[in-house]
This record gives sequence, C-alpha cells and structure tokens, in this order.
Amino acid sequence: MPSMSEIVSEHAELSEAEYAWLKLLVADWQLLADLSFSDLVLWVPNRDENVYWAAAQIRPTTGPTCLVDDVVGDLIAYAPEHLVSEAFLSGQITQTSQGKLQAGIPVAVHAIPVPFRGRVVGVLEQHTSQLGVRMPSTLEKAYLETDALLAGMVTAGQFPVPGDASNQVLGPRVGDGFIRLDGDGNVVYASPNALSAYRRIGLIGDLVDEHLASLSASLMPVSAVPVDDSVRSALSGRDIRRAELVSGEAHMLLRTLPLHEHDKRVGAIVLCRDVSDLRILERELVTKDATIREIHHRVKNNLQTVAALLRMQARRIDSDEAKIALTDAMSRVATIAIVHETLSQAFDEVVEFDKVADGLLRMVGDVATTAAHASTVRIGSFGEVSADVATGLSMVLTELCQNAIEHGLADRQGIVQVVPTSLGERLRVEIIDDGVGLPEAFDPSKSRSLGLSIVRTLVAEMEGTFEIGSNPDGRGTRATFEISLGRPRR
Ligand SMILES: Nc1ncnc2c1ncn2[C@@H]1O[C@H](COP(=O)(O)OP(=O)(O)O)[C@@H](O)[C@H]1O
Ligand SMILES: [Mg+2]
Repeated sequence: MPSMSEIVSEHAELSEAEYAWLKLLVADWQLLADLSFSDLVLWVPNRDENVYWAAAQIRPTTGPTCLVDDVVGDLIAYAPEHLVSEAFLSGQITQTSQGKLQAGIPVAVHAIPVPFRGRVVGVLEQHTSQLGVRMPSTLEKAYLETDALLAGMVTAGQFPVPGDASNQVLGPRVGDGFIRLDGDGNVVYASPNALSAYRRIGLIGDLVDEHLASLSASLMPVSAVPVDDSVRSALSGRDIRRAELVSGEAHMLLRTLPLHEHDKRVGAIVLCRDVSDLRILERELVTKDATIREIHHRVKNNLQTVAALLRMQARRIDSDEAKIALTDAMSRVATIAIVHETLSQAFDEVVEFDKVADGLLRMVGDVATTAAHASTVRIGSFGEVSADVATGLSMVLTELCQNAIEHGLADRQGIVQVVPTSLGERLRVEIIDDGVGLPEAFDPSKSRSLGLSIVRTLVAEMEGTFEIGSNPDGRGTRATFEISLGRPRR
C-alpha cells in the first residue's frame, strides 16, 4: 500500500504548508472517525483536478467498519454528481441520500471539504454503516452531534488544531472517556467510561450538570494547589489543552478541545483516560532500574573494601611469595570492582567498555609489583559489551597486561599496546609488549600458573580462543584472544 507522502508527491500539486495541514488532520482524525462511528478516507485532487486519489484511510474504534478493503491508492474519475468532486468544487459538505449499498451493507456517505487558507486541498469522505441502525442512545446522539460540529470546523478551517499533535499514542481517545461541555464549562454529557475514570479519582456523584473544572479541582488533594490552577484552566474548555490529573495512586489523562460554530464558541470536548495502571508500571520500571544500579554501587564498595584488606595483609606479611600472591589477589578483586563501578552508572545492560578498559590499564600500571617504566596504550575501541561479558573480559585483560608489565617489562622501559578489533558478534583483542619475551622452552598450554589458567578458563567460558607467543612484528610477546559478544550469558 503506498504511503500518503508517495501519493501526494506523485499525483497532487500541494504546497508544503497544504500538505502539512493534511498531515495534521490525519494525525488527529481518529477523533472524527470515532465520534461518527465511520470509516474515513482522505481524497486529494490530481494535478488537473479531474481525478481524486485516496491518500489515507482510517477505521473507527467505536463501531464496525464498512470499508473492509484498503482503498488507499485508489482513484475516482471525474463525475459531476460524485460526492467528493461536489464537495471539492462547492466547498460544502455533501451527502448521499440514505442507504447506498456498499458490499451489501447500507452505508451513509458524507463528503467534507478540507480547506487550507481558503483553498480546498482535499476531501474527507465519511462512510457510516447503517446496518442495524436502532433508536440512537444518548451516547450515540452526543457523539454524532459533536461530530457534526467538528465536520463544520473542518470545513471552516478550524480543525485540525496546530500545535496539538503531541502524544497521540497515549490518547486519550473517544472510547476511553468522552465528556461534552457547554459554553460555560458545564457537563452536558459524559460517557460511561468517562464516569468510571472520574470515579477512580474519587468522584462520588454524577458528572452531568457539574462545572467540570471546579469539580475536578475539588477532587485533587489539597496540597496540590498549583496543579489545581492548571486543572482549572485545562478544563475550562476555552482552549486546546492536555493535562494529567493525579489523586493518590490514580492518574487521568485529559484532552480538551474547544468547539466552534460559525466563529462562536459552543462548548468543548474533554477526552479522558484512566492511566493509573500505566503509571504504576512505569514507576516500577524506574525503581527497578535504580535498584540494579544501587546494587552495583554497593558491590563495588564491598569489593574495594576487600581489596584494601588484602593490600594491608600484603604489607604486613614477611614472605615475598605470599606478598606477591596477596597483591595479585588484590588487583583481581579491584578489577571486578571497576566493572561494577561502570555498571552502577549505566542505564542499561550494556557497557561502554573503553571506559572500563582505560580504568583497568591505569590500575594495572599502579599496582604492578615490579614495573616502574612501562606505559600502556589502547589502540582502537571496544565498543559496547554486554554486562555479562564485561567482568570476564576485564579479568582476562588485567591478567595479560599484568604479565606484560611484570614479566616482559620487569627491568626495562617499554610500551604495552592493547588493540581491540570488533568482528561483529565477536571481539578480538591483542596485548603486545616490547619486552624480554617468553622464557625459552615455555609452553603456554602446559603452564599451570594461576594467571594464564584464569585467562584460559574465562576465554573458554566466552566461547573464545586464546594464544600467546613471541611478537611477530618485533621484540617481546603478543597475546591474542577472541571472544563472543553474542548472547548474554546468564
Ligand atoms: N608478556 C610476557 N612476557 C614475558 N613472559 C611472560 C609474559 N606473559 C607471561 N609470561 C610468562 O608466563 C608465565 C605464566 O604467567 P601467569 O600464568 O600469569 O603466572 P604469573 O604471572 O603468576 O607468573 C609467567 O611467569 C611468565 O614467565
Ligand atoms: Mg600473571
């Protein structure tokens, strides 16, 4: 099905502003469809005005459709007695005599011209099913009466209303709750759903004959005085407004649209929707997010305490071997703390890993037991890494950088390069030092020392590969590992 912009740009001759007006109408025409229980089709004139194209279509949410098939992209050839061309040429609303049959269903059709700055730029065709038309209920009467006023406003260029296209998704819609005000702001009609919504925010009596703004303000908690003011002006029916009434746990979304007839204000529509459940859900999501971040923050604090304890013990112990072991344990714990620190600031389940890596590289340089002259550089970006992979990746990185500094560059000046390469679902990282190189006859796959064991275990857990050997591009050692960033591991 072609889009409205395709049809308009291909067939019609409309200025930017005229097209924008039609788009504004289409953004808000659910209101018209719902109030009239009708299908709507927007027709735009072809360049030579003898043909009209269906540019957009909408079905009512308040009743059955009578346009089962999509009509967008169809065209009407010129016929002088055709409703659409009649409305287009005359600038007046035209209608069929009742009971035209459309696929076996009796349908009443209206055509409403849509002018913009005095020139008709399109025609709204309204198809209303007459099937099972019964004695109209008060609800139907109130809807249809309002629809007639709105249709008149379209013809007079007073609807749609610019500047009110925001938040169409949340509504509220006619079916959510419909209230009709008279010129003084008193309720003439309230649909059952509107009454239910008001009951939820504390209304006990009825809505009809009440002054809606005063009544709504009286339902607000006393403390909400500034809210009170905005509620009054929002519900006065004088201008187009959106507002949200809050009373305890109850939230109600409101939309006010003034109605005009021959340039005289004749009241307003207020649409309302109970959004309490939605707001509760939103709040739960926000608190859940904040809780997760708080937990990361606490875990980080605890790990830093553990690291400090290990450092104190390392200082107090005499055996060199034990000192080194405790220092290593300390830096491993500190590594994990850095990851939690980053996660406590993140809003979602992924981490900008460059920040973590840079923190790690700095720390490795600081705590290395032997090195004094090594510097570390990151060349390239890690990108985003899921929170589940971040800890393992950090540990591997720390172990390999530590080795480069403590073994490769123990007694000389040098540089450790960390080179991440993103391979889509996978990530490759090289750690290259220009130090002394691996000891002769060193077989990394046979080495049982703790550092490389940690590396091998974690890399395997991330569906990865690991190798270490002499640097092919010069002096020193190169360690390479590749891991999967794919599915988060739980
Ligand atoms: N970048 C490197 N340069 C030189 N030797 C290294 C390097 N990386 C690892 N090694 C050698 O591999 C051995 C094992 O490392 P590791 O498992 O981390 O244990 P540890 O660091 O506790 O000695 C080290 O003792 C060292 O001899
Ligand atoms: Mg090591």
